[in-house]
Amino acid sequence: MSYPYQITSLEAYREAWQRSIEDPAGFWSSVAEHFTWRRRWERVLTWNFTEPKVQWFTGAQLNITDNCLDRHLEAAGDQPAIVWEPNDPQEHHRVLTYRQLHFKVCQFAHVLHNNGVRKGDRVCIYMGMIPELAIAVLACARVGAIHSVIFGGFSAQSISDRLQDAQAAFVVTCDGAFRGAKDIPLKSVIDDALVTCPFVKRVIVFTRTRTPVSMIKGRDVWWEDEVHHVETAGNPPFPAVEMEAEDPLFILYTSGSTGKPKGVVHSHAGYMVYTNYTFVNVFQYRPGEVHFCTADIGWITGHSYIVYGPLGAGGTSLMFEGIPTWPDAGRFWDIVDKHRVNILYTAPTAIRSLMSYGLGYLEGKCLDTLRVIGTVGEPINEEAWHWYDAHIGKGKCPIVDTWWQTETGGVMISNIAGVTPAKPSYATLPMPGVEPLLVDDAGREVEGNGVSGNLCIRSPWPSIIRTTYGDHERCRTNYFSTYPDLYFTGDGALRDENGFYRITGRVDDVLNVSGHRIGTAEVENAINMHAGVVESAVVGFSHDIKGQGIYAYVIMGEMHSDPALTRRDISLTVSRIIGPIAKPDRIQFVSGLPKTRSGKIMRRILRKIAEGETEQLGDTTTLLDPGVVHEIAQGRLGQ
Ligand code: WT7
Repeated sequence: MSYPYQITSLEAYREAWQRSIEDPAGFWSSVAEHFTWRRRWERVLTWNFTEPKVQWFTGAQLNITDNCLDRHLEAAGDQPAIVWEPNDPQEHHRVLTYRQLHFKVCQFAHVLHNNGVRKGDRVCIYMGMIPELAIAVLACARVGAIHSVIFGGFSAQSISDRLQDAQAAFVVTCDGAFRGAKDIPLKSVIDDALVTCPFVKRVIVFTRTRTPVSMIKGRDVWWEDEVHHVETAGNPPFPAVEMEAEDPLFILYTSGSTGKPKGVVHSHAGYMVYTNYTFVNVFQYRPGEVHFCTADIGWITGHSYIVYGPLGAGGTSLMFEGIPTWPDAGRFWDIVDKHRVNILYTAPTAIRSLMSYGLGYLEGKCLDTLRVIGTVGEPINEEAWHWYDAHIGKGKCPIVDTWWQTETGGVMISNIAGVTPAKPSYATLPMPGVEPLLVDDAGREVEGNGVSGNLCIRSPWPSIIRTTYGDHERCRTNYFSTYPDLYFTGDGALRDENGFYRITGRVDDVLNVSGHRIGTAEVENAINMHAGVVESAVVGFSHDIKGQGIYAYVIMGEMHSDPALTRRDISLTVSRIIGPIAKPDRIQFVSGLPKTRSGKIMRRILRKIAEGETEQLGDTTTLLDPGVVHEIAQGRLGQ
């Protein structure tokens, strides 16, 4: 057994879970023993959910990069840490051993330091999926700066909002990024964002696509030139900066039910312990195995299971720059065979999409190195689960259905590969340290099995959200006030006869589109910015590939004679304001919206119509103008 805290039997799981709930401090300190600390903790856990205030390993000092890099050098310095597969299969892949990655992270930590970055400073990272992205993330952690990675699909406006919220004075980016057949001009998007962010002092630009960029004197520098300065200085080591356990490690923005994304804050020690623990347990990782998480590092899945989890465990993490369907829908399977991947972790939307291309793209693919396959991000429907099991896992790889959130930092409810039972479309059982419960709308606990309710967690686990950046009250109201003394997930769930959890989806105004969280209010705000739009209401509807699609009902003041053109203009507006991921799938023009007498939009009715239900719309008598419902139902847009 290579990790002393790896659970290898159902009985051991039950024992570990029981102990973790009865004695969380004892349980997590015995896990934390196996990490490198500069100073040991004085107290394992201090908490209350009223403020909320959660502190793990108080008094300890550490740096997560000592654990992800330095401590592996002696025994595993020549092991691959990152295997990188480029977008274009014709281009050479890259392998960075732990020694090489450590070297590059130290080098870039110097670059950050030379450019004025200090402990506690916020650094925004806007790059494509190249090893330098992981290097930038780890270098921030090493100097004690707080990274805020922004997914490459967000618009200039979204970046500007996030830069301002975090007051980030530093940006690390690329000239551009390759994604499938497209080149994304990242630096140019950053330039647009910076028009409204004069507080940004330095932009470090890595060359990837060699697309022309404008470099502003005194503000913009090339990554390569800066690295050259460090080389000229003889590449001195960069000892990791000592951090307090609760010092923030990163901010990651995510959508909620209001119009403004929240900066979820995670801290060094708890996040380090929990991502490592869940990585080795959920996937039953064995040293030497290749772990391929297909997420982007711009999302929490990439932070936890491409970077920090695997590297903390001394594992090999495969990073892929491209997309599953380019040059063709066999790309993932080619990568699995080429790099002899053992663990594949992807999203149900990717599975459904690849499924829709047919089995032809699996011909000639061997896939025999796969041992564990997993899913994350949204509920997986049974059809996709069985396809994944039969055609990718060949019936012999356990499928882990991992439920968690940006706010939870790591996997919360999941089966443990080959150790605890799987059940299609069920995330199943909580990880040690996690005590889920269901409550009804009045906040009363729903006990027993074979029940459903709103999913809450009773007490803190090490990587629970600490605050929302710059606005602690928002953290309290969002997660800790709906049901007093509980963490509320925003998800609904049911618990079957065996106590297995099935996550049924969001119960708030948040959509899950292709595994990405999008707030309906955010999309509405963006639509309303389009000239001519008077009002809009956005709801989700079932989408075969994306899980949920975005359906917008829009009231126009003046309208162009061609509605198709107006739809395109509105879509482009949403792309500009948020990013292409938030573009509505359907836009229906309406003359009014169903509202109560107090002016509240009846989304329940709009959701039903979007799903295709135009008859049984429930009680509409309380509406201000019941007639509008009929009109909307008549005008519903189908496929
Ligand atoms: C929301 C969190 C953390 C992973 C990436 C998404 C949904 C996530 C599952 C699953 C059913 C799931 C939930 C959750 N979700 N995993 N296995 N089964 N639903 O992170 O953007 O923070 O979204 O994704 O609704 O609340 P995120």
